[in-house]
Amino acid sequence: MALSKEQVVAALAKVPAPDGTPLPQTGTLSDVVVTDGKVFFSLTVDAAAVKAWEPVRKRAEDAVRAIAGVQSALVALTAERAGGAARPAPAPAAGRAPRAHAQSGGGGATQPGIPGVDSIIAVASGKGGVGKSTTAVNLALGLRDLGLKVGMLDADIYGPSLPKLLAIREKPQTIGGTRLKPIERYGMNVMSIGFLIEEETPMIWRGPMVMSALTQMLREVEWGTLDVMVVDMPPGTGDAQLTMAQQVPLKGAVIVSTPQDLALIDARRGVAMFKRVNVPVLGVIENMSYFMCPHCGTRSDIFAHGGARHEAERLGVPFLGEVPLHMTIREKSDAGLPVVATDPDGEHARIYRDIAAKVRDTLKGGTGRAAPKIVVEA
Ligand SMILES: Nc1ncnc2c1ncn2[C@@H]1O[C@H](COP(=O)(O)OP(=O)(O)O)[C@@H](O)[C@H]1O
Ligand SMILES: [Mg+2]
Repeated sequence: MALSKEQVVAALAKVPAPDGTPLPQTGTLSDVVVTDGKVFFSLTVDAAAVKAWEPVRKRAEDAVRAIAGVQSALVALTAERAGGAARPAPAPAAGRAPRAHAQSGGGGATQPGIPGVDSIIAVASGKGGVGKSTTAVNLALGLRDLGLKVGMLDADIYGPSLPKLLAIREKPQTIGGTRLKPIERYGMNVMSIGFLIEEETPMIWRGPMVMSALTQMLREVEWGTLDVMVVDMPPGTGDAQLTMAQQVPLKGAVIVSTPQDLALIDARRGVAMFKRVNVPVLGVIENMSYFMCPHCGTRSDIFAHGGARHEAERLGVPFLGEVPLHMTIREKSDAGLPVVATDPDGEHARIYRDIAAKVRDTLKGGTGRAAPKIVVEA
């Protein structure tokens, strides 16, 4: 018999909250997601009560793991932020979807930082397929080449790409049963939502699941000491992206766009989204900016090259650089051998490193606006 949500909730009824109430009656439970013997859900609690809830989270996980047919259970504790002086409203009952509250002044800056991680930057795009992940990987490697200690977090729920782009086939190991050890690649610590969510997971589950998984990837991974964490965000500018932008203590965002008009409209929405949640836009990168023929070296501006630069100017955000559409970038990227790591002396690596240098300088405070300081937990 297939494992059901009801079985999980029944098992949770035997787990008491800190005040003794059975867990399903506390209103802290998110939707319970059950797929292929894997169970995910989160508990949203008052930030002040997190300590008291941690053992409950643990017991909930153990109770779920004890159900016959459960292969793995992942329970994330999510702290509800108090809005102003008021206590947060009690969380609505199970089944709610995480909603963004853009008006609350959200912004990554108000989220607690990740201990040991100096800056977290998002690589985002208005739509999929523009080369966001390829750019994120090579940008991260470029930052690494500048001497920074870099981590990468693949938060793209719709198409986690880091396992492929970095040829990672192993699963992260757990430390002491609860914390995860990131995978190390090319000197970077890497975590992917692809390690936690199976590829066949239906899209509809991904929204609620991703919040649990994201919290886990941020808070329960031994990231170590990092100068920069590069986050490959889900494409688009909808609710999921907005919520995520608020969930992660971002220092800034880099928008990747191709030069076509349609992509630029989406990129503009991306810039607007980050501005709405008070995350500074570090700049725009034009990917597939012009075509470089691998045979004859001739350059063709097949997609009205320069569109992203103009758009960045129009929006008043920095323009970070142009990456050509080149067969080598595609082949290397898709083979898990990113150009910056495997052809460091090549022309493409130089382009990415130049972009990385601009990002680094901007992070140092060159935006002209006060970059929010990430508060690092003791
Ligand atoms: N500058 C580029 N030149 C050639 N191919 C590219 C370039 N950037 C990305 N690609 C290719 O385009 C496809 C989509 O890129 P990907 O990084 O997966 O995009 P996204 O993360 O936006 O969906 C991949 O096959 C990738 O190798
Ligand atoms: Mg991708």
